[in-house]
Amino acid sequence: MGHFGWRTYTVAKPEDEQFSAKIPFLYRLPDFGNLPISLGLGVCGRVGNTAYFGFTEFCKPQPGETVVVSGAAGAVGSHVGQIAKIYGCKVIGIAGSNEKCEWLTKELGFDHAANYKAVDLAAFLEESAPAGVDCYFDNVGGEISSIVLSKMNQFGRVAVCGSISNYNETNPDKMKATVLQPFIVAKQLTIQGFLVNRFAARTVEGVQQNLKWVQEGKIKYRENIVEGFENAVDAFIGLFRGANTGKSLVKLH
Ligand SMILES: NC(=O)c1ccc[n+]([C@@H]2O[C@H](COP(=O)([O-])OP(=O)(O)OC[C@H]3O[C@@H](n4cnc5c(N)ncnc54)[C@H](OP(=O)(O)O)[C@@H]3O)[C@@H](O)[C@H]2O)c1
Repeated sequence: MGHFGWRTYTVAKPEDEQFSAKIPFLYRLPDFGNLPISLGLGVCGRVGNTAYFGFTEFCKPQPGETVVVSGAAGAVGSHVGQIAKIYGCKVIGIAGSNEKCEWLTKELGFDHAANYKAVDLAAFLEESAPAGVDCYFDNVGGEISSIVLSKMNQFGRVAVCGSISNYNETNPDKMKATVLQPFIVAKQLTIQGFLVNRFAARTVEGVQQNLKWVQEGKIKYRENIVEGFENAVDAFIGLFRGANTGKSLVKLH
């Protein structure tokens, strides 16, 4: 596993320090048995580690707490929600279609899920999280996150993983969300942005933990596989249109 670029074949020597110094995030994948090797790019790779380390280290979940995940039907979000269930939390997902929400509640065990394009999120959270929100794993930023933060409990923890709702925004007037500081102060929130790279030294630990959960049936996954290098751009743009459920991958012919 490594950032080699788009290639049909690569010869790599992970144990050779001089070689590995030139390739970022180079490591040997564990034996996945009958599971697809593509999991090394998803639940048993950096995506899985983003979910595992970001959620456990920064949200510090406790059994019985209420966790909200945005971008919940995506690669990271769907994984975080399932880890939260393993930790004994009540889990609420926010995603962009009714089909995605059904997948979250019926197949992945989320307690509630809302289609942010169709419902009043504030009212939905009041109903689904009447005792408030203890942990928020934020993949999207913007107005969705302002609403979730306004529903947090005292000493709530927020892991800010992504901000996909505004990565491409060029209009400065739209690069604003409802003011958050009153909630942050009054609820004494801890908000931590992070990049998975900070856990690079613990890569294998995360991969092995996630692999174990997949093998035990505790983490389910979906892959959105697009065939052909020539379709890579469409696959990438699809992330911003909500075209994927689970991890988006491009498979070379
Ligand atoms: N911090 C790190 O180290 C790290 C590592 C990996 C990924 N990330 C970030 O984590 C987030 C999730 O990554 P991922 O790989 O799991 O992607 P993903 O969730 O699989 O795909 C992106 C999803 O974002 C949702 N989305 C797109 N535009 C949106 C908008 N305007 N408002 C709300 N939701 C929107 C779409 O789902 P809907 O249909 O639900 O809208 C889309 O399917 C991204 O922001 C990514 O940049 C961070």
